[in-house]
Amino acid sequence: MTVLLAACGGGSGFEPTAVSTPAAAPTPGPLWSDVPPLRDAAAQTGRMIGAAVFSSRLGSDAAYTGAASRHFNYLTAEWEMKWNPIQRTPGVFDFSGGDRIVDFAESRGMRVKGHALVWHGATPEWVNALSPPELRIAFEDHIRTVAGHYRRRVYAWDVVNEAIDDSQPGLRSTVFSRGLGPDYVAEAFRLARRADPEAQLIYNDYGAEGLNRKSNDVYNLVKDLKERGLVDGVGLQMHISATSFPAVADIQANIQRLADLGLQVNISEMDVRIKDVPGDAATKLQRQRQVYRDVVAACVAVARCEAVTLWGFTDAHSWVDGFFGADDPLLFDEQYRAKPAFFGVEDAYLRR
Ligand code: XIL
Repeated sequence: MTVLLAACGGGSGFEPTAVSTPAAAPTPGPLWSDVPPLRDAAAQTGRMIGAAVFSSRLGSDAAYTGAASRHFNYLTAEWEMKWNPIQRTPGVFDFSGGDRIVDFAESRGMRVKGHALVWHGATPEWVNALSPPELRIAFEDHIRTVAGHYRRRVYAWDVVNEAIDDSQPGLRSTVFSRGLGPDYVAEAFRLARRADPEAQLIYNDYGAEGLNRKSNDVYNLVKDLKERGLVDGVGLQMHISATSFPAVADIQANIQRLADLGLQVNISEMDVRIKDVPGDAATKLQRQRQVYRDVVAACVAVARCEAVTLWGFTDAHSWVDGFFGADDPLLFDEQYRAKPAFFGVEDAYLRR
């Protein structure tokens, strides 16, 4: 459980910085290289299994690279394709990190999901200082340039991320909603469609996994966008704790109602925290296995739920440690040994 500190580098952006902590007690699972590729199990159901990655570790860390290559067929940039890293300085685009991830995926026959064109949580400081007319120009330029750069190289884009408010109906107040008005969401999709007509365009959010006010708002938003031909899919983030998460039946019902709109659905950023599960390490890990199994099975049960992406894959590198506190939320431990959670996901794909 390496701790990632969310350093608030000014404005709304926050970036990862790694801080080493003592290793968690090792679990006696088999090494990443000694378990069957998870991607094969997912492919048996026609599904993609994805992971968020950092380009700096691909190629430089043998176990990280090996496990990513062996087990996944869909990659997402955990950080490097957001606005802040790509256009830290106005008008200067740095595609190096995203390009490395796309090159890596292409050379291994994996697909890529771009993440994310518009997210208030990864907006460079200079964006916050723009007047509304300047913001409109920057917004249009960013979406056109980035989606255009990755045209035909990404399978899908998270176009707008986390636009719905947590505590009141409707849109969250952000630099975009304030400066551009509520139609900025539709506008982002229109611009992305024009820049990359083949990409699946996704609305992505958290806290909208089950059936609740926020997921109703997401439903209504994407229903409207779908009727206007602007959105193709929805991502349900699924950053959950094994001690409190939506009822699996509600998750499945929510996936189903979104699918019934004609949308593709994906579980887009899954991790399962276990710190608060009562009992010893083995109990926590078994509970985590069950949660992974049940949630992935809810996706497998709906034909249009085409992908599950995990927000990382090894407990050595998870954003959870910095954001929620030290935990072990992923499928492989720090030594890249398959945890019970790995087998829970496998069970879901093999319908066990
Ligand atoms: C997080 C990354 O995991 C961190 O490394 C980075 O510092 C901040 O962003 N919802 C999202 C993701 O849509 O983009 C976030 O990723 C986690 C929450």
